[in-house]
Amino acid sequence: MYKRVLITGANGLLGQKLTTAFSADRSFDLLASARQPHAYNSDASFGYVSLDLANKGAVKELVWNFAPEIIINAAAYTDVDGCEREKELSWRANVTAVENLVAASRLVEAKLIHVSTDYVFDGKNGPYDETALPNPLSYYGREKLASENVLRNSGDNWAIVRTMVVYGIANNVKKNFAVWLAQELQKGNRVNIVSDQIGNTTLADDLARGIYELVKQNRRGLYHIAGADILSRYDFAVKLAHAFGSDASLINPIKTADLNQLAARPLQSGLITLKAQSELGMNFLSTDESLHIFKRQFLESAARPAT
Ligand SMILES: NC(=O)c1ccc[n+]([C@@H]2O[C@H](COP(=O)([O-])OP(=O)(O)OC[C@H]3O[C@@H](n4cnc5c(N)ncnc54)[C@H](OP(=O)(O)O)[C@@H]3O)[C@@H](O)[C@H]2O)c1
Repeated sequence: MYKRVLITGANGLLGQKLTTAFSADRSFDLLASARQPHAYNSDASFGYVSLDLANKGAVKELVWNFAPEIIINAAAYTDVDGCEREKELSWRANVTAVENLVAASRLVEAKLIHVSTDYVFDGKNGPYDETALPNPLSYYGREKLASENVLRNSGDNWAIVRTMVVYGIANNVKKNFAVWLAQELQKGNRVNIVSDQIGNTTLADDLARGIYELVKQNRRGLYHIAGADILSRYDFAVKLAHAFGSDASLINPIKTADLNQLAARPLQSGLITLKAQSELGMNFLSTDESLHIFKRQFLESAARPAT
C-alpha cells in the first residue's frame, strides 16, 4: 500500500528538498504543487499541478480530487522585512493559505504537516523547546504563530515543525544567507555579519530528512527540527569560510541594530531539538557536516551550465 502525499510550496528551497526525499520512496504517491506552471526540481520525477494556496476553491478542488493522506505545506511568504511592508499579501500566503489547507484536508481527513519558525519567539532567553511561550517581535513571526494556531484549533490531525535559518542549494530560489556569503567570499568581497544573532543554522536537506521521518513515523504535534549546533551568525560565517577555503578575515562582525532592518529579529534564539531527536530516533547534522554537503552542492551547481 502506498500513501498519497501532497507537497505545497514545492518550488521553494525546502519544497524542492521534500520532493527529492519523498519521490525517492516508492511507498509514497507524490503530487507536488506551486504557483509556477512547472516544477523547478529537475532531480526527481513526480506529479505536478500549479496552485495558488490563497485560492480557497482551487485548494479544495485539488485536495478533493487527489485525496491525499498527508499534506505537507512548505509554502510561505518568507521575506521577513517584506511582511512588514506587505501585510495583506503576506497574510494571504502565511495564514489564509493554511486556513484553506485545513478546510480542504478536513474533506478527505488528510493529516496536515506545516512548517513554522523560531521567529514566533522574542529571542530574549533562547534556546527554546516546544513548551516555551511564543512572543513574536515581527509581523512575519505573528503570521507564523497565527498559522500554528489555525492548526491547533483544527483538531489533532496535524504536525508543526519549527525550524530556523534554513540554507541550501535548489533551482531558481531566493538567495539564502549561506549562498550569498559563499559567493561574496569567493569574489574576495568584504562582508558584514551580525555577531549578536544566536541560533541553529539548518541545511534544507537535513530539515527535509526530519520531516520525512516524522511522516514515516506518523507523528503528530509540535517538533523543533534544526541543525545540531547553536552559534552566532558570525561564527557560522567563519566556519563557512574555512569549509570553502576562503579568507575569514573578510568577515567583519557587526550588530543587528547597525542594519536598521524593518522587522525586529530575535537575538538570543535557537531551537532545542531533543524531542525530535529522541522521538524520531535521529541526530541532526552539525554545522561542519552540513557545510561539507553544502559546499559539494554549491560547487556542483556553479559548474552546471545555466538553463
Ligand atoms: N528559510 C528560512 O530560513 C526559514 C526559517 C524558518 C522557517 N522557515 C519556514 O520554512 C518553510 C519553507 O521555507 P523556504 O525557505 O523553503 O521558503 P522559500 O524558498 O521562500 O519557498 C516558499 C515558497 O512558497 C511559495 N508561495 C508563497 N505564496 C504562495 C501561495 N499563495 N501559493 C503557493 N505557493 C506560495 C513561494 O512561491 P513563489 O515563488 O510563487 O512566491 C516559494 O516557492 C516556510 O514555511 C518558512 O516560513 C524558513
